[in-house]
Amino acid sequence: MTHHSLWHSLLRGLKVATVGWAVATLPIGQAAPLPDKAALEQTLQRAPQRLTVIEPHLSTRDDHVRVQYLGWPAEVVLDKLLGATAWRKPGVDVEFRALDGYVSRIPAERFTQYQAYWVVDRVGHPSFTVDNLKQNEKAVSLGPYYLVWDNIQAPELVPEGGSFWPYQVADIGVSETRLQSLLPGQMVERYKAAAADAQKHCLNCHQVNGFGGDKRPTNLAQEVKKLTDAEFHAWVMEPNRVKPGTTMPPLADAMPQADRTALASRLLDYLRAVPVAPQPAAK
Ligand code: HEC
Repeated sequence: MTHHSLWHSLLRGLKVATVGWAVATLPIGQAAPLPDKAALEQTLQRAPQRLTVIEPHLSTRDDHVRVQYLGWPAEVVLDKLLGATAWRKPGVDVEFRALDGYVSRIPAERFTQYQAYWVVDRVGHPSFTVDNLKQNEKAVSLGPYYLVWDNIQAPELVPEGGSFWPYQVADIGVSETRLQSLLPGQMVERYKAAAADAQKHCLNCHQVNGFGGDKRPTNLAQEVKKLTDAEFHAWVMEPNRVKPGTTMPPLADAMPQADRTALASRLLDYLRAVPVAPQPAAK
């Protein structure tokens, strides 16, 4: 089998299980709608609780801004919506799709390692919104649902920023396909970690050969090959400097600078190495 036909069959095989009653495999994007807040509260038979987090969209490396939200432990909600066994498997990602095409694919293991909350309101604030400083956006609506992490109990999560904090979550699913499983054979071992980093930091908006989000669905396997090292680094480290007012956020800017630079270099190596699939599939 050539790489091209391998790509093709893998990309066509990209499937998700949908939520609720209709647990079937459907192409991504056709998941059943989530229940609304009132229906969810009724199903869970308990009121949402208060919790406090360091809000990554408002915080910088030196200024940690705490925000109080109302929500339920995410595991409880995922068990209800996806079934207790479907998503609790090693190697699967829980996929959160936002209204604007942003997709967060979060490894299932992370939910047992860290405490996440499925949030429905902000406490002591006139609306369920937050400013997204990194994307130059004010009073961004967070509803219907927002996924947050207890980064006060687990301060090691603070430098990661907001990539695993999807807001405006409109549907969820379980995805058994990871980007690294789409890598041609000999690339898998070498680029596994970099592909996971790309999934986390870039492919919630962009795509690699049809895999990723729809917020800015350009193929990074293609786009990045047009850039020099200097252009790539300048863009991902400080997009707002290259293009003032852009909504592309800087790469993990709560991390120490040296770690960010190293991460950017790993992403660049990987995105240059990954072959461009002949036709974008899986759309
Ligand atoms: C929150 C969404 C988001 C994330 C996350 C994101 N980008 Fe972008 N990116 C954008 C948007 C929006 C544009 C268009 C920017 C503009 O023209 O103002 C863009 C533009 C680009 C471009 C120029 C090609 C194009 O599509 O216009 C490249 C290359 C790029 N991004 C690379 C990356 C890399 C690499 C990462 C991960 C380190 C990343 N982006 C993460 C939203 C995102």
